[in-house]
Amino acid sequence: MNITGAALVSNEPAYQGARTLWFHAPAIAKAAAPGQFVMLHCSADGMDPLFARAFSVHRVDGDRFAILFNVVGRGTAWLAARVRGETVTMYGPLGKPVKLPRHPGNLLLIGGGVGVAPLVDLAERAVAAGHQVVAMMGGRTSAHLLPSSAWPREVEYVVVTEDGSAGPKGFVTQHLGKYQEWASKIYACGPNQMFASLADVLRGNGRRQQPEVLMEENMPCGWGMCYGCAIFTRKGVRLCCKDGPAFRLFDVF
Ligand SMILES: Cc1cc2nc3c(=O)[nH]c(=O)nc-3n(C[C@H](O)[C@H](O)[C@H](O)COP(=O)(O)OP(=O)(O)OC[C@H]3O[C@@H](n4cnc5c(N)ncnc54)[C@H](O)[C@@H]3O)c2cc1C
Ligand code: FES
Repeated sequence: MNITGAALVSNEPAYQGARTLWFHAPAIAKAAAPGQFVMLHCSADGMDPLFARAFSVHRVDGDRFAILFNVVGRGTAWLAARVRGETVTMYGPLGKPVKLPRHPGNLLLIGGGVGVAPLVDLAERAVAAGHQVVAMMGGRTSAHLLPSSAWPREVEYVVVTEDGSAGPKGFVTQHLGKYQEWASKIYACGPNQMFASLADVLRGNGRRQQPEVLMEENMPCGWGMCYGCAIFTRKGVRLCCKDGPAFRLFDVF
């Protein structure tokens, strides 16, 4: 784990309510593996708020890495107001990396809202490893979707919106359709309600794809010290930060 003060390279809107921040952080960018996250201190002195906030590694490019986040509270509002050249204290990467299948296959990535954040990095690495990738994103409206330009060109990008303003209307888990059959492996990231719906949809014939979900429990420390992120699984209590954040869907839901 690296503790560093990383210089902000850019701070751009990604879609309504979400921003993408790129940081120059060579040690973190080099060490980051798919599915991992970084803890960012969201204040100048690191004291208020006291606990760092967790963000998935969204993309990696050389010495830089990006996060994608929704502004939901004090910490994310502070981050959103940072300008190029400012330094943010952070530590990571943390969590167990997601392992891609050894042999090239058909990967279905399902993101609910800002849950797409880690799936873009996963898609980039999966494409580089020779996998076929379909990425589905569910958002509230067309204004709440990541643009297709954010994904590697090789990825087929499918969108679903709650109001039907882009793609089919409803929740992403209601529209897996032909992609569910096509997939040899499924990864998802989003809110727990989405994982519960996904489990309902896949319980019948989705077990062969061994779906994995990246969970976003509240994490005060991020590295196994506080037990604040404990979850109940069919294999016992697990720490989301240390044993996850990726878990087998049917171990939890
Ligand atoms: C491993 C991991 C990866 C994450 N990756 C991302 C990411 O890539 N992009 C992103 O936008 N967010 C991500 N999150 C969630 C992010 O950490 C929270 O949104 C952030 O801590 C909110 O900080 P805040 O100070 O702005 O909000 P706070 O003032 O702390 O909280 C504001 C509201 O957000 C809710 N909230 C806080 N933390 C979470 C959480 N973990 N999950 C759901 N609701 C929460 C609170 O209950 C409250 O209602 C991730 C969380 C984890 C654990
Ligand atoms: S966040 Fe502290 S143990 Fe997981």
